[in-house]
Amino acid sequence: MWQNLIAVIIFVVIYCLRDARKPQFYPPGPNWLPLVGCGVYVFNLMKRFNFYHLMWHDLARRFGSVVGLKLGRDRVVIISGLEAVREFYSKDEFNGRPNGFFFRVRSFNKRLGVVFTDGEEWEVQRRFSVRTLKLLGMGKTGMVSNLEKESDDLIQHFRKFSRTQKTINMHNAFDIAVLNVIWTLIAGKRFHLGDKRLEWITGTIHKSFRVIDMSGGVLNQLPCVRYICPVKSGFAPLVRLLKPLWDFLENTIKVIASRSNAAEDYDCLISSYLRELQKDELHPSFSYEQLLCVCLDLFQAGSETTSNTLGFGVAYMLHHPEVVSKMHQELDNVVGRYRLPLLRDRPYLPYTEAVICEIQRMSNVAPLAIAHRTVSPVQLGTYLIPENTITMVSLYSLHMDKAYWGDPETFRPERFLNETGTQVIQHECFLPFGAGKRRCLGESLAKSNLFLFFASFMHAFIVEPAVDGQLPQLEGIDGITLSPKPYRVFLKERLIYWTHKH
Ligand code: HEM
Repeated sequence: MWQNLIAVIIFVVIYCLRDARKPQFYPPGPNWLPLVGCGVYVFNLMKRFNFYHLMWHDLARRFGSVVGLKLGRDRVVIISGLEAVREFYSKDEFNGRPNGFFFRVRSFNKRLGVVFTDGEEWEVQRRFSVRTLKLLGMGKTGMVSNLEKESDDLIQHFRKFSRTQKTINMHNAFDIAVLNVIWTLIAGKRFHLGDKRLEWITGTIHKSFRVIDMSGGVLNQLPCVRYICPVKSGFAPLVRLLKPLWDFLENTIKVIASRSNAAEDYDCLISSYLRELQKDELHPSFSYEQLLCVCLDLFQAGSETTSNTLGFGVAYMLHHPEVVSKMHQELDNVVGRYRLPLLRDRPYLPYTEAVICEIQRMSNVAPLAIAHRTVSPVQLGTYLIPENTITMVSLYSLHMDKAYWGDPETFRPERFLNETGTQVIQHECFLPFGAGKRRCLGESLAKSNLFLFFASFMHAFIVEPAVDGQLPQLEGIDGITLSPKPYRVFLKERLIYWTHKH
């Protein structure tokens, strides 16, 4: 009996010592405790910073541009600063995605979709999605009239508020229009801008991005906590939010499946995928469940980021009337007061374009991009990162790099313009869509959306805070992405008359 007890104690001690030992050449970081790793340290630090990206930024300041941690069972490495980020994005070994419990909750505890998969299955599904979206017009002129119609409808919708002098919730005002653009590609239809069910769905998408952070939280490190504290671990709220999204997508797929053979012109990503499923020689990664998860990925990744950027954008404009005046001047000169901007105006509106870049730089809606995973051991600088390590790249560290930008805390669109103010310039420290092979799949669509919705909105209205002198907060709400805090505004029309022919 005593012998057994002593053997167990020795085993536990050896296990704990091994568990707290860092791999050779692992990046510097806080000390590891057995079982919890740096969990307690990070938990306490988070109480101070409130935002994950700010906490990781502080760790980078203390330990350097590559910080090595362990959270529960997971090794986690945070990469900051231009040099390390550039090396990170250039190496294929970093192109995996984490395979923990949290990252599979969205896809029925399997590895499905394009966001949280890797290897051959990811390559096949990403290639299919990109090819189909391009065939459907993404990033091409075919899409232009759809986008312009959507922005036109959105402005007409906002006019109802300006005419009745009612205030409007601005932080999420672009949600349905943004979703419509992506939904037209996925399901071939759009929704009425006042659609209550869609309002509820977009609200659900926002909430699903808030319940957990990009590292997967405690749920990823200790999946069993979902039985002990389902609410606090984030599991119950996440499933409660995902359920209506799954149902919504599944119903849509069923409806399209029932008529996809009949209507040739009813073309969209879902019907293309359903047609693919009927082929004899099919890659094994294609399945009905896979289709559902590809749609969920595009639906969530495509709508949340774009509408959050627009929500932040208007908030920044309320803080910077001098920027609004310059933009109005440019829009009046190029577009005139008799119509809304069109996509073809974009090359002639460099200041407006620079304002959008500055909004993206400062709002940092995806401050930590999407978590990656090492698929084999890999060197980064002088460090060795073992296989199966979660790696997170701090885009925030690039966008707020004082050495690069000089005054990163100042909202100054001119930093994105050449000396004569006639051309938008590229900055290597500006990567809102990530880089490398896992770069954002919807970048071209997002850029067109941001330009058209933002330029049209700013051209059509003068925006004022709902309560005189009360400006919206700019710090946002934490989660997988950053979203603007709720705020309301009054809109006053500034265009004389406009018309679009679609
Ligand atoms: C302002 C808007 C957007 C921003 C800031 C944004 C940002 C990003 C970032 C930072 C990543 C991760 C890169 C990495 O892993 O290192 C990403 C991935 C992704 N984005 Fe976007 N995105 C936006 C709009 C969109 C749109 C409109 C779509 C859909 C059409 C989309 C679909 C995706 C998908 C599917 C991925 C995962 C790609 C992969 O893992 O292979 N995004 N995005």
